[in-house]
Amino acid sequence: MAKQLRWTLNRFHSKRPADLNLSPFQPQTVDRIREFLQSHPAYQETPIHSLKHLAKHLNIHNLIVKDESLRFGLNAFKGVGGLYAMGRVVAERAGLDVPSLSFSQLLEPEVQKKLGELTFISATDGNHGRGVAWVASELGQKSKIFMPKGSSISRLSAIQELGAEVQITDTNYDETVRMCADMAKENDWIIVQDTSWTGYEEIPLWIMQGYSVLAAELFEQLQAAQMASPTHIILQAGVGSFAASVAAYFTNRFPEHSPRIILVEPGAADCFFRSFTTHDGHMEEIKGDLATIMAGLSCGVPNPYAYRLLKNLAHASFSCADSLSALGSRVLGNPLSDDHRIISGESGSIPIGLLYYLRTTEEGAEICKALSIDDQSRILCISTEGDTDPSFYRDIVWKGYHSNLPAYSEIIK
Ligand SMILES: Cc1ncc(COP(=O)(O)O)c(C=O)c1O
Repeated sequence: MAKQLRWTLNRFHSKRPADLNLSPFQPQTVDRIREFLQSHPAYQETPIHSLKHLAKHLNIHNLIVKDESLRFGLNAFKGVGGLYAMGRVVAERAGLDVPSLSFSQLLEPEVQKKLGELTFISATDGNHGRGVAWVASELGQKSKIFMPKGSSISRLSAIQELGAEVQITDTNYDETVRMCADMAKENDWIIVQDTSWTGYEEIPLWIMQGYSVLAAELFEQLQAAQMASPTHIILQAGVGSFAASVAAYFTNRFPEHSPRIILVEPGAADCFFRSFTTHDGHMEEIKGDLATIMAGLSCGVPNPYAYRLLKNLAHASFSCADSLSALGSRVLGNPLSDDHRIISGESGSIPIGLLYYLRTTEEGAEICKALSIDDQSRILCISTEGDTDPSFYRDIVWKGYHSNLPAYSEIIK
């Protein structure tokens, strides 16, 4: 079979370096954030599924998948970040007490009067912008969303349906972010971005703290099901905010025996992988179109804060061909026996596609040895989106798009 991946152990991994501040992801802090999210009427924990037959097929002890397609009716996890961050921005503007905040307070007439008309702006491949547009409409405010070149029209329509003004730019994701930051400055709009840069750190951190609620749910769900803690968590990375918040939460929960964190990215946008393979671990940026079917992971510049965390917390990093993501969607969409069926879109399914490859190929067997993945492993994956581009999802699962498993060298520049 043609080569599908490149990978590296992370030489910069350290257990708990003294200068790594994980306090924003302490369970008590995250519990308070969760209380705020719970005060929104649409909040519901997303389910976890133990895929017993697939675990047996892959010769691992168990495989848990959390299905984020059911989050707030938005078909992806991103709303947890937007809701907390935007709720907090608005609360602070209105002078409300954040720790005891509830969503309904934000809708009170005197709060709305104090706030006046606000405009939120954001760059997105689809899911983050959909979350921002949804929260803006829930708050009775405006949003302007910009999508990079090549973005899916159905993802654009889903954002428009939430009342946002949406445009596709002629540049990549990272350039689109910069454009939005400039427009926000010029027009006094509020930029809600899921990545940080010098002088813009607070909102991205709140977004990441919102994501960690998902990790807190997971932790409790595993406990409630009396499942032992995972040995490995495979996390997909775009700018890395999602992976860093889940990794930080689980490290706080298991400071002595934290699960091995395995990062996975598309080969066309593998900025973490490339950074981990530099001699000194500096952050690498990738330019160009970053063309991959994993739209949510098509980011060439890591969030520097997330990078700092993951440089310390990740054990290994994978750079994968699109065909492994397509494989993951097909595996989850066509379960073995009575395993639960999970509809997982391109950025949601890559951890499962990677795991499947690692457990079913000769090349994978060697890598599994190096990562201590064996018949005792308890592996956790998060399907971060459903079929956010439904017709493309069908092209993959029904028509077999990207099943040709092209040579990795054809994809990686
Ligand atoms: C479905 C999905 N999964 C994962 C990610 C990765 O999140 P991050 O960019 O924080 O690494 C994204 C980002 O947009 C996404 O949309």
